[in-house]
Amino acid sequence: MSAPPLLEVHDLAVSFSTRAGRVPVLEHVSFTLAKGETVAMVGESGSGKSVTAYAMLRLLDRAGRIDAGRVRFGGADLFALSDAEMADIRGREAAMIFQNPRAALNPTRRVGDQIGDVLRRHGAIPANQVRQRVLDLLDQVKIPDPARRANAYAFELSGGMCQRVMIALALACSPALLIADEPTTGLDVTTQAAVMATIRALAKDRRMATILITHDLALAAEQADRVIVMHAGHVVEDAPTAALFAAPRHPYTRALLRATPRTTGSLADLESIPGSLPTLTAPDLPPCRFAARCPGATAVCRREPLPRHRGDGRLVACHHPLEGAP
Ligand SMILES: Nc1ncnc2c1ncn2[C@@H]1O[C@H](COP(=O)(O)OP(=O)(O)OP(=O)(O)O)[C@@H](O)[C@H]1O
Ligand SMILES: [Mg+2]
Repeated sequence: MSAPPLLEVHDLAVSFSTRAGRVPVLEHVSFTLAKGETVAMVGESGSGKSVTAYAMLRLLDRAGRIDAGRVRFGGADLFALSDAEMADIRGREAAMIFQNPRAALNPTRRVGDQIGDVLRRHGAIPANQVRQRVLDLLDQVKIPDPARRANAYAFELSGGMCQRVMIALALACSPALLIADEPTTGLDVTTQAAVMATIRALAKDRRMATILITHDLALAAEQADRVIVMHAGHVVEDAPTAALFAAPRHPYTRALLRATPRTTGSLADLESIPGSLPTLTAPDLPPCRFAARCPGATAVCRREPLPRHRGDGRLVACHHPLEGAP
């Protein structure tokens, strides 16, 4: 019998209350992640990648509500834990690198002390070695002059430096799961490579599972075992990386691959996917939220519940999945 997955997200639904009413942002989001596995989560801006991560770790702000679903992590039902138990898991076993690193750091504590706090809480190393370990971590994420930078406050550091501190902080507790939300955006190429190498080494040596949220399809192709494609709050495709790039089965995945400039691999300025994400408050939102943009859409797509076909280790949420090459 195979071991249960480290992480199991099942049928997650999230809505936000806004001035325009309740907005169903995520629907039926399901995926699993095995120990040591790296999965990339891709999709246009606003497709629900960050909200998925926040909801899983119970970090949604007050306007956000989990309407349905279950998240199992290492045998625990995360939505059934007390706040204290959840905070403990966040500090120890499931770490997140946030999209806005400066805001995620404590403004009133030196960055080295913040990393030291995590190491001490984790209790894995003797107190007299904490300082050295902090400097090692800062060095690993290519922070020059770690001894000086460790004494700085977040506001004294550039955005890129805060990003690296955030990564060191996330890695300090050797988490079983790392959620990295655009971890290398805004970093120069050398630092990007160093950061990804550090994450990879941990994934390999300690079998850390990673969710890599990114706009960069080239990075996803290079780093991930599997890719989850999100569109307007739905997982539209989930497939092993090579299979997805060789032959996307959802029309949106194909559009993404076609729209991505080969040189940068970034989705940053996606002009060439026709249309835009649908307005989620629209009263006539079709079951397939891609239908209005899809060249292959038929009446069924606007009427029937979205099917979720599984097979060959892939999932495709489409009435008319594609066969063949991109
Ligand atoms: N606090 C909030 N209140 C209302 N709506 C929100 C809130 N946070 C997120 N949303 C909405 O949820 C949807 C998904 O947002 P999310 O931040 O997850 O997108 P994303 O895929 O991470 O995009 P990006 O690539 O730009 O980071 C968007 O429509 C966004 O407007
Ligand atoms: Mg985001």
